[in-house]
Amino acid sequence: MKIIIDTPEGIAEQAAAIYKEILDEKPNAVLGFATGSTPLDLYAELINLYKAGEISFKDVTTFNLDEYVGLEPTHDQSYRYFMDTNLFNHIDLDPESVHIPSGIDTSADALAGYDQAIAEAGGVDMQLLGIGCNGHIGFNEPGTPLESLTHVVELTQNTREVNARFFDSLDDVPTHAATMGIKTVMNARKLLLIALGESKADAIKATVEGPVTADCPASVLQLHPDAIVFCDEAAASKLSL
Ligand code: F6R
Repeated sequence: MKIIIDTPEGIAEQAAAIYKEILDEKPNAVLGFATGSTPLDLYAELINLYKAGEISFKDVTTFNLDEYVGLEPTHDQSYRYFMDTNLFNHIDLDPESVHIPSGIDTSADALAGYDQAIAEAGGVDMQLLGIGCNGHIGFNEPGTPLESLTHVVELTQNTREVNARFFDSLDDVPTHAATMGIKTVMNARKLLLIALGESKADAIKATVEGPVTADCPASVLQLHPDAIVFCDEAAASKLSL
């Protein structure tokens, strides 16, 4: 695991440069994306690079980590809507190449079909990750088996409270989400995790310096051969580096 500490702006630039490297080498790369506040600067940077003619997503295939159960793709808090408005609508990505777990059809077939679609696309070249204050990646909350594939999870009260800022009230926050499993994430050839802010400091300490345990799902990144963890000073503040 490689740890890089930089400002939030510096992280967005460095991470975007990694996307450029990958796309220069493999224009039809398979990219795994994340939602939440953390990747917003990076997505803005990717849009800038696209508009400057430095990168193209024309031949790219994408797979997102997760989606709230019960939200239609058109719901303004769905992760599909988030990706469209914050990235996909601003780049030359073919809408046919976008994959996001369905929050409506969460049948066993649909969930298994997500892992199958990733495999058929040749696997994810690089998966972007944020991290929850409790160490979750995707919506794999503490206790999720490290061998899990795409599945439905019940969100913890803490995760719902943290995400309530995007909804009118806590009651409106869905109770469940469909998410890539920890094994699905680990199968990606490269992982890029970004952590910003003091609220992530404990989770980053456990991820980087703690034991590999389902109690902190992100700690599994220690076992990945090519994982980069970008932290700002606040998120890195509890590391003993
Ligand atoms: C989102 C996701 C989550 C978030 C995490 C951090 O697709 O999978 O794991 O990355 O909850 O969220 P933010 O970035 O809002 O702090």
